[in-house]
Amino acid sequence: MKRVNAIFRHPLYQAYYRRLEELEQDRIFCRHQMTHLLDTARIAYIRNLEARLGLDREVIYAAAILHDIGKSLQYKDKIPHEISGEKIAAEILDSLTAENAFSDTEKKMILTAIRGHRKLRKDPEVLEQLLYESDKASRMCFACPADPQCSWSEEKKNREIRI
Ligand SMILES: [Fe+2]
Repeated sequence: MKRVNAIFRHPLYQAYYRRLEELEQDRIFCRHQMTHLLDTARIAYIRNLEARLGLDREVIYAAAILHDIGKSLQYKDKIPHEISGEKIAAEILDSLTAENAFSDTEKKMILTAIRGHRKLRKDPEVLEQLLYESDKASRMCFACPADPQCSWSEEKKNREIRI
């Protein structure tokens, strides 16, 4: 998982991640930190194996740990985080050293998945749909004390224990 760890250690990733951590310190609703990011990655990877989608593990984990990286800009500047996240992720992916680089095809898949993770398009790409579904499945709405105040639609809320 060398390439995934290179993303996590990237200075830009660290800067946005820490900023978000600070902003969500007292948040009663879903947070967007490593527990959520890795839950999403692991659910996606399990589903990938079960459905024999054939996606690369590092590509799945890269998309998952990057997908909410723009969230601090949504809190502060009201920029939808799938848009800022796609830009930040592109900058990070483009500046990885050659030994940790993702191919152009992999980068495109990851960026498309980040851009599409909040609202599923018609005919989404495979990784895009996997990230969308795993992101929602990672949330434990069925056991969340903030559920009554949460603005998520009933359709998005996860009401049972799944993978
Ligand atoms: Fe998420």
